Amino acid sequence: MLQTTNYLELTFWAKSQNESFARSAVGAFFSQLNPTLEELDDLKTAVSEAVTNCIVHAYNSQQKGEIVVCCQLHPNAITVQIVDFGKGIENVEQAIQPFYSTCTTGDRSGMGFTVMQAFCDDVKVESGDGQTKVTLHKTISLEN
Ligand SMILES: Nc1ncnc2c1ncn2[C@@H]1O[C@H](COP(=O)(O)OP(=O)(O)O)[C@@H](O)[C@H]1O
Ligand SMILES: [Mg+2]
Repeated sequence: MLQTTNYLELTFWAKSQNESFARSAVGAFFSQLNPTLEELDDLKTAVSEAVTNCIVHAYNSQQKGEIVVCCQLHPNAITVQIVDFGKGIENVEQAIQPFYSTCTTGDRSGMGFTVMQAFCDDVKVESGDGQTKVTLHKTISLEN
């Protein structure tokens, strides 16, 4: 079991303005571990992809609905959970495939989950019982 040394929970509405807020807030919290700029940017990008998915997919860009972001700090890692109570993902295996997107307007690349996987050490996606939860885990290099 990983030791938890600090905890942050944010609840906000699925408004596009809040995507940059969540990204910065989680980044500021993660900064307590003295990550490299690259590690910090990677986590912020992954959080941004996950929160954007809640806004545009879970809640269909209606600019309402709740998003909860929980961050657990460990001695040299962070776990971030991004939870929504929107429409859910019927087939998670399919959704996480590179280039898979249900967006028909051509605005989305279908690479959100692939980016999260590339920029974090572990990504878990669960959907059911009225909620969708993406768990990101990122470790920092020890020579910082
Ligand atoms: N929070 C979510 N709620 C419902 N569906 C989601 C959610 N996140 C992702 N999805 C589904 O998974 C697909 C793939 O997501 P992603 O890889 O980020 O690609 P994109 O956002 O570019 O479509 C989305 O097109 C959408 O159908
Ligand atoms: Mg996406």
